[in-house]
Amino acid sequence: MSFDFERVIDRRGGDSSKWNKYAGRDVLPLWVADMDFTAPPAVLAALEKRIAHGCFGYAEPWPTLVASVLDHLERAYAWRVDPEWLVWLPGLVCGINVACRAAGGGVLTATPVYPPFLSAPRLSGRALVTVPLRLANERWTWDFAALEAALTPDTRLLLLCHPHNPVGRAWTAQELGELAAFCARRDLIVCSDEIHCGLILDAGRSHQPFASLDAASAARCITLMAPSKTFNIPGLGCAFAVISDPDLRQRFVGAMRGIVPDPNLLGLAATEAAYRDCDAWHHELIATLRANRDRVEAVVGGLPGLAMTHVEATYLAWIDARGLNMADPASYFEDAGVGLSRGSDFGLPGWVRLNFGCPRTTLDAALERIAKACSACSALSR
Ligand SMILES: Cc1ncc(COP(=O)(O)O)c(C=O)c1O
Repeated sequence: MSFDFERVIDRRGGDSSKWNKYAGRDVLPLWVADMDFTAPPAVLAALEKRIAHGCFGYAEPWPTLVASVLDHLERAYAWRVDPEWLVWLPGLVCGINVACRAAGGGVLTATPVYPPFLSAPRLSGRALVTVPLRLANERWTWDFAALEAALTPDTRLLLLCHPHNPVGRAWTAQELGELAAFCARRDLIVCSDEIHCGLILDAGRSHQPFASLDAASAARCITLMAPSKTFNIPGLGCAFAVISDPDLRQRFVGAMRGIVPDPNLLGLAATEAAYRDCDAWHHELIATLRANRDRVEAVVGGLPGLAMTHVEATYLAWIDARGLNMADPASYFEDAGVGLSRGSDFGLPGWVRLNFGCPRTTLDAALERIAKACSACSALSR
């Protein structure tokens, strides 16, 4: 490996939300979705160069930045995007909220799901209907009959998480095709949150943007993307939407007006380098995450009271902890020294989400604590 994914960086006592949550406690934080790795060297160099310039006025995207994004989309996903389709954003959560406002009706999504999918409709004054994803043969899938049944005459927007946080599925071409047909039949706009698209872990799989399926799907789609998860720069506040339909784009931009700030200038500089100069780093990141994923699956699969499905994408493991018979498994693991995300926040109590984007030693220490906690729990119930 040419890059160091084993170095443990001390993030305590600084600005890290992930680590500050447990300040003063011996709890390994494996909750919020950022990784305990430094950003790629080429990103750090681009930031240093920009900082050395010293002048930080209002900024706008520049041609080589736009070229870096568009070339990346074409190289990685064979997706040709016009520069005018890009709408720059300071983050994806804000994009999800803007999409809810722009769509002009009720919202549909499938649970469990990243919590802002559940809060954005309410914050935007839109009705929300949810359907559960189906867990069948140890695989999370869509329940199309339930989707049909949940629709109301008011429903205008499907919020899609692709790849899906927290269940770790990279939706297949067939699943995407079925979703596209459903949305076409019901004339729904699709907001496809593809923030995890650079984190496909299964060899031989690749990400397919929903909007790249066909012209009709592109025309109904607001795609949200960012380099923030893949290159571990979420604190730099830079994301973008791709909206090819001029009318939909105008509605989206109209809903942003006066509320949504420009992306951070350092985030823009980082984005250019991330998409253009970091292929080798990304390659090694995926190998590291794949090994961590395999380790989590092997350990968790063997623990009493826990179960999980295969993580195809993301650095997040979605773990069924109902077998522990605990009212709040996340609190139980917190007391055992591991900070996980609480399933109820994603719409599914009894589950927890574990972030394995960290050096192997941190992961192994956390898994050891989890194993001990599970054994203690099963000993108690015997
Ligand atoms: C599916 C998904 N969307 C959006 C975000 C956050 O986006 P941002 O930090 O750009 O608001 C996350 C972060 O975990 C996520 O998992």
